[in-house]
Amino acid sequence: MVAAAANDDNGVDNDLKPDSEPAPANLSPPAEQKPLSKNAQKKQVKQQRYEAKKAEKKAQEKEHKRKEGERKHKEWEETLANATEEERLKLIESRKSLRKERMEKRSEEKEKKMERLTRAKEIGQNVVVDVDFAHLMSELEISSLVQQIMYCYAVNGRSATPCHLWLTGVKGEMSRQLDKLPGFEKWFIEKESRCYIEAMADRKESLVYLTADSETVLDELDPESIYIIGGLVDRNRFKGITMNKAQEQGIKTAKLPIGEYMKMSSSQVLTVNQVVEILVKFLETRDWKTSFFTVIPQRKRTGGDLVDSSKSEPLSEEHQDKEGDEDEKHDLLERKKLCVEVPLENGS
Ligand SMILES: C[S@@+](CC[C@H](N)C(=O)[O-])C[C@H]1O[C@@H](n2cnc3c(N)ncnc32)[C@H](O)[C@@H]1O
Repeated sequence: MVAAAANDDNGVDNDLKPDSEPAPANLSPPAEQKPLSKNAQKKQVKQQRYEAKKAEKKAQEKEHKRKEGERKHKEWEETLANATEEERLKLIESRKSLRKERMEKRSEEKEKKMERLTRAKEIGQNVVVDVDFAHLMSELEISSLVQQIMYCYAVNGRSATPCHLWLTGVKGEMSRQLDKLPGFEKWFIEKESRCYIEAMADRKESLVYLTADSETVLDELDPESIYIIGGLVDRNRFKGITMNKAQEQGIKTAKLPIGEYMKMSSSQVLTVNQVVEILVKFLETRDWKTSFFTVIPQRKRTGGDLVDSSKSEPLSEEHQDKEGDEDEKHDLLERKKLCVEVPLENGS
């Protein structure tokens, strides 16, 4: 992956070189550009469309925000203009104190989050997202995974009982994409460039790879165990990849006990953010049923759930599948909106 990126960079550099610069004598003539395969062309068009849609949406949002700001400012100016001097002073004072209150509340919330996350780092359940699969994913899939990770971080930060979240195998393209996230360098999360098997070599016995292909059904979350989730957006194109990896490494595996609580309309393979959310919810409730019904979208379940779902919490907008169908996949900006205010920046 790194090598490929380096080659790409070289390509760009060469393109940007001025015409007048003489080519080094020992360079062989540039290799003829191979025409793209039909599949690659399709992918390229899809990527371009996605980029264009993303840029258009961003511009629309910016414009909307600007107009809203203008409208509110105008409204405020009009209110002041129509007020007496005494009312004016009162209005300005009340606006100031409202702002102060809001800021104090926000920083109080941030402080509390920091306390919770610090505690989770000391005694919380270890959960690892293994992001060592970037070489198997398209740019779009990596981007989707990065959004899912952002979502996981936000959900964990909001929880009253967060887990101790790790990202392992953070390198190459994955690292570059994560670094682009605003404030990522300040996230209160463990970032490891090494694989968990190296980084946690002294705790190999405690490693449990979560995979839908395991025959072992997870019953409880063991505080001593370290649960690993495959950081993959592959629409299950790489069937069994995490199961094989765990077996090769000689570590334990387990699957979520979904089948005991609900029937799924298709496979029981969930997205990374859904699995993290389920674990976080379980840490909060110690109840698989509530965790599954809160997180797994209705459309992924069949009508005949195994247990009475009427008492479980309704699925909120924000608990939708983050990999989802084609439209959803392309709509990463919407997801950003959900997460934007949430990622907690260490010390901010
Ligand atoms: C989109 S899935 C990746 C599927 C991939 N083909 C595989 O074989 O792991 C993302 C990750 O979520 C976790 N996961 C998804 N569904 C699960 C389930 N039913 N039980 C346990 N872990 C699951 C696994 O760690 C998985 O690697």
